[in-house]
Amino acid sequence: MNTLKLAGKTALITGASKGLGKAIALALAEAGARVVLASRNLELLNETAAAVRKLGAVADVFPTDVSDEAQVRQLEKAVAETVSKVQILINNAGMNIRKPVTDFTLAEWRQVMQTNVDGVFLMCRSFVPQMRGQGYGRIINLTSIMSHVGLPGRTAYAASKSALLGFTRALALELASEQITVNGLSPGPVATEMNIPLIQNPELNQQFISRIPLGRWGKVEEVGQLAAYLCSEDAGFITGTDILIDGGWTAQ
Ligand SMILES: NC(=O)c1ccc[n+]([C@@H]2O[C@H](COP(=O)([O-])OP(=O)(O)OC[C@H]3O[C@@H](n4cnc5c(N)ncnc54)[C@H](OP(=O)(O)O)[C@@H]3O)[C@@H](O)[C@H]2O)c1
Repeated sequence: MNTLKLAGKTALITGASKGLGKAIALALAEAGARVVLASRNLELLNETAAAVRKLGAVADVFPTDVSDEAQVRQLEKAVAETVSKVQILINNAGMNIRKPVTDFTLAEWRQVMQTNVDGVFLMCRSFVPQMRGQGYGRIINLTSIMSHVGLPGRTAYAASKSALLGFTRALALELASEQITVNGLSPGPVATEMNIPLIQNPELNQQFISRIPLGRWGKVEEVGQLAAYLCSEDAGFITGTDILIDGGWTAQ
């Protein structure tokens, strides 16, 4: 996206310290948006902010754990005081614990749910009110191919991402009359820190690549550009759906 289609818009991106969140922040900034970056690691958030500023865009940084109700309320207050209203909310923060269901502790199960589901609910509850009344709004939730298909060792993650897809559809209907679109963006395997355990294990890496029809891991920039498109006015008729970017994984 080389034209400044998001000029004048402010985008709040969770999990912006690395991986897909960082790439989405850079793509939105490149398209002209001011970006507000949230996650737990201040040092890494500052690195993303520095990369955004190199593009000539404005970045604000707010360390936040999205699974913590008080911290999300604090973020809401801080953004209202220092940045004013956001028009774009990218719920990207997420985590995965891979193990057989019988090996999960309840605490681990809840950690996945609290980050991937509760975190998105808390962010939407806090930021939808200020997105209202602007005649334009975009919410993108990072769902997953695991919202559509399964894989052994992914019970918690697949449950969380499937819940997130249901949340996405219902919220889209709640907000449609206000021209706030709500969509899932479902990546297939993308080379980020989340997947290092798979990429660094030659056998698992090969196994994964052989299951991706396009024969490679996805690139973070590819997801960033898709998010930028979904945020643009051009995508104003897309809501309540889930866009797969998975190298063909779910076509099989
Ligand atoms: N990579 C893939 O193949 C893939 C595929 C499908 C879906 N996804 C989804 O895409 C999103 C990004 O994934 P990724 O691959 O970029 O993962 P990643 O490299 O592991 O990054 C995860 C991001 O989420 C943040 N985060 C985690 N827990 C958080 C919390 N409680 N509060 C605030 N921030 C939190 C982390 O920041 P801090 O550590 O600084 O808090 C980090 O910025 C996730 O929702 C993931 O499920 C990824």
